Amino acid sequence: TPPEIIRNFCIIAHIDHGKSTLADRMLQLTGVVDERSARAQYLDRMDIERERGITIKSQAVRMPWTVSEGDNTGTTYVLNMIDTPGHVDFTYEVSRSLEACEAAVLLVDAAQGIEAQTLANLYLALGADLQIIPVLNKIDLPSAQPEKYAAELAGIIGCDPSDVLHVSAKTGMGVEALLNEIVKQTPAPVGNADAPPRALIFDSVYDTYRGVVTYVRVVDGKLSHRDRIKMMSTGATHEMLEVGVISPEPVKAGDLGVGEVGYLITGVKDVRQSRVGDTVTSQIHGATEALGGYKHPNPMVFAGLYPIDGDDYPTLRDALEKLQLNDAALAYEPETSGALGFGFRIGFLGLLHMEIVRERLEREFNLDLISTAPNVVYHVTMEDGTEHEVTNPSEYPAGKIAEVREPVVKATILSPSDYIGAIMELCQSKRGQLEGMDYLSEDRVEMRYTLPLAEIVFDFFDQLKSRTKGYASLDYEPTGEQPSDLVKVDILLQGEPVDAFSAIVHKDHAYAYGVALAGKLRDLIPRQQFEVPIQAAIGARVIARETIRAIRKDVLAKCYGGDITRKRKLLEKQKEGKKRMKMVGRVEVPQEAFIAALSTG
Ligand code: GTP
Repeated sequence: TPPEIIRNFCIIAHIDHGKSTLADRMLQLTGVVDERSARAQYLDRMDIERERGITIKSQAVRMPWTVSEGDNTGTTYVLNMIDTPGHVDFTYEVSRSLEACEAAVLLVDAAQGIEAQTLANLYLALGADLQIIPVLNKIDLPSAQPEKYAAELAGIIGCDPSDVLHVSAKTGMGVEALLNEIVKQTPAPVGNADAPPRALIFDSVYDTYRGVVTYVRVVDGKLSHRDRIKMMSTGATHEMLEVGVISPEPVKAGDLGVGEVGYLITGVKDVRQSRVGDTVTSQIHGATEALGGYKHPNPMVFAGLYPIDGDDYPTLRDALEKLQLNDAALAYEPETSGALGFGFRIGFLGLLHMEIVRERLEREFNLDLISTAPNVVYHVTMEDGTEHEVTNPSEYPAGKIAEVREPVVKATILSPSDYIGAIMELCQSKRGQLEGMDYLSEDRVEMRYTLPLAEIVFDFFDQLKSRTKGYASLDYEPTGEQPSDLVKVDILLQGEPVDAFSAIVHKDHAYAYGVALAGKLRDLIPRQQFEVPIQAAIGARVIARETIRAIRKDVLAKCYGGDITRKRKLLEKQKEGKKRMKMVGRVEVPQEAFIAALSTG
């Protein structure tokens, strides 16, 4: 396909602003799928994605479009729609899929206005020099305020409000005009057709039957199905089994040329051998310089995962190995906890990533797991000059510490201006530093903060939502580290420290944290046959104390009449309740206790 007739674009939108519906509508209008199968929503494949209404894995669809109005009426173009993931944890993946495009459709719900994540992704798109096509969706809604939000969008991207397109993905209104506009406004891809091939990997997905399917955008030269290819970050070479395009099912092609978007299959079985951001070239006469911007995914958040039943440890290990085949960002290593036994310390890109992994482990591998409260990575310099990286609070070094550094993020919060005070108060209590504030329109503001990632990992998002009646939205990106005054708070049950409860918190918050967590644990841990003292301590200094009183009578004593079925029922009920209990010393501790720290804000 000649590059002149190729148009590569993506859609940037907030969750629920209608990206999938619009994508379906486009597939339908371009004849790629018929009305009935459009329902299947080709762009979202994983179950969990659909259930949670998020898109984790980006993919690409090729659609022919014959311009129906204006200058090039009657000319048929090839549109490649590249799907971008929409959540903060996947910023790097977003940036790579943007890199594969020349334009971005900025899709905003006409009844809601732009949200923080969309704004953050818009900035990424502007940074990648993409043409921005602003579009208001859902203009069929009675609550739509197209004038207001067109003005807002125009203000943000510096265009005229009349340049903002109005569509309804649901009714189809305006979508044909949008397709024409995409052809008109998106620059054709530019590359050197005679150079050695270079293609950007913007996604790779593990498929049970075919192994890893790698999505690429060709920048220079061409990739042919006869080539052996080379991954430029590692130098690894692979046989090319197939190249093709998705429209909406995979269709084999002989080769992919400049500007084309498609997939390739090499028979590798592990997505880590086909990393997002890497450059693919040919083994023979290959390129010598990779495309810029390759980054290794760095886990930002760590948590311990332990099987409730120790016998499940091998199953958990195998499950993690399998998950890693299709999740290059997942990092793990075995760890042993005094309280929880054998398990793994797992590194995640963020909280959502953590939830997804945990849910998949439980659902797809039938595991019952205990997870510890998530924590960030600390770097500790001792007075003698040695350095420690701490990914598990219980491994916080003892001895003389010169400096502790914690990761910080740049957070963007968009909200109606009524809540400025509430947001400032929240951010202040989370050690935030206000960096700037702008009005997007007369009643909506953008606030920018630097915040310790550790504070966001806890209940920041929930608190932000509840203090702004759900109106505020949040986005953040890691920006480095800062030295902080941090201490380790330990929790002791019956005088014994429980490693899985240890946390690293700011000195000024340590006391309140200890009191809150001890109180929470008193409520969460069921009464036992004996008294259980709970203490929170910094080093040898106890900062809070609670006691769980002993239970006096046996549950079964209630039904001494000898009604056996009733007894059995009761025992079964107890067993059910026990499913997520873990014996810590002599004390039975429920799963909730291990993540109680998450909500002691
Ligand atoms: P994610 O896939 O979760 O990111 O969401 P999305 O942005 O793809 O949103 P989706 O297309 O799933 O649409 C969200 C909701 O808005 C659905 O209930 C759609 O039916 C509805 N919706 C989408 N477009 C329109 C529209 O133009 N008008 C109206 N009234 N509703 C729409």
